[in-house]
Amino acid sequence: MNTERHPTTRAPGEQGPSGPSSPYGPPASGIEIPDALAASHARYFGEVGRAWTAGLPDLAADFMERWRLRADGPSFHGVVALVLPVICADGTPAALKLQLVEEETLGEPVALRAWDGNGSVRLLCDSTESGAMLLERLNPSRSLSAVQDDLAALQILSELLARLVALPAPEGLRRLADVTAAMLDHVPWAQARLADPGDRRLLDTCAGAVRELLGEPGDRLLHWDLHYDNVLASHPSSSGREPWLAIDPKPLAGDPGFELLPALDNRWDEIVSRGDVARAVLRRFDLMTEVLGLDRRRAVGWTLGRVLQNALWDVEDGEGAIRPEQKAIAAALLARPGSP
Ligand SMILES: Nc1ncnc2c1ncn2[C@@H]1O[C@H](COP(=O)(O)OP(=O)(O)O)[C@@H](O)[C@H]1O
Ligand SMILES: [Mg+2]
Repeated sequence: MNTERHPTTRAPGEQGPSGPSSPYGPPASGIEIPDALAASHARYFGEVGRAWTAGLPDLAADFMERWRLRADGPSFHGVVALVLPVICADGTPAALKLQLVEEETLGEPVALRAWDGNGSVRLLCDSTESGAMLLERLNPSRSLSAVQDDLAALQILSELLARLVALPAPEGLRRLADVTAAMLDHVPWAQARLADPGDRRLLDTCAGAVRELLGEPGDRLLHWDLHYDNVLASHPSSSGREPWLAIDPKPLAGDPGFELLPALDNRWDEIVSRGDVARAVLRRFDLMTEVLGLDRRRAVGWTLGRVLQNALWDVEDGEGAIRPEQKAIAAALLARPGSP
């Protein structure tokens, strides 16, 4: 089945197929695959990841021809995606994002289409089948990580998040209810692999907290991965239509309380160096729940759900302990009177 999306499949300024002497396509020097991206794909996706990175230069070349794009400077990457700055046929600066098609990445174009540029990067066109997206160009050198004042950065992130989760999730996205049920199924397996009784107790506490919330998993469009590096300043060419925009959603349909953790453990070294970790965690948590208008008890429960999710992944990766920052966040929230 051809899953390419219409009518957004045509890139800005695209007239039709490019001819043999096309000015579009990759730079003559070819597309280099960053070593760190190849390494993370091999680590997380094994043989499938290695095959994907091996095919990446051809995939990029294919989409640059197909969508009539010219390369415009060095590429960027995170753990999952390769992002190539490009110029469209009509001169619009854009970004070609390529990522492996899998459960987590499948929903990205669905969410971006729903937000339609309100608080998020705009999707210009996409090919769901290949994991290729053409995005509005933002400023890759300026993310919220560059904003020195931590609470000012968090305020911006929380205001964006409040706008993003205001929308009901469109059909077809992964559901928090299913994700949570699968997590709970894995708890006994993970318990057996945690060495420290304190870690095992914490896993149980987290599981108990989300079990209580299972009946009301929520139906909002969640970003799921909104940390400082996933909020970029807009590009000068956009006349600053919004100062900051969210990128890189791994969307879910669910309760916004599940959104807080990636911003709570941002810049963890700064929190630790200031000394009073619990106080700093609660200050971040209170700011976020206030801006998002969340019920704090439920938000604690879903944040413990996120601690559970991270712990389960770590155990799957062969770890025998829960990470210190995850424990510190859970401890700070659980120490509050009235917590689950
Ligand atoms: N629309 C965009 N415009 C400019 N640069 C971008 C854009 N989207 C992503 N980038 C750059 O590419 C990097 C990786 O993209 P991201 O979508 O966060 O992928 P990952 O899932 O690998 O983290 C970002 O940190 C940023 O530097
Ligand atoms: Mg990212």
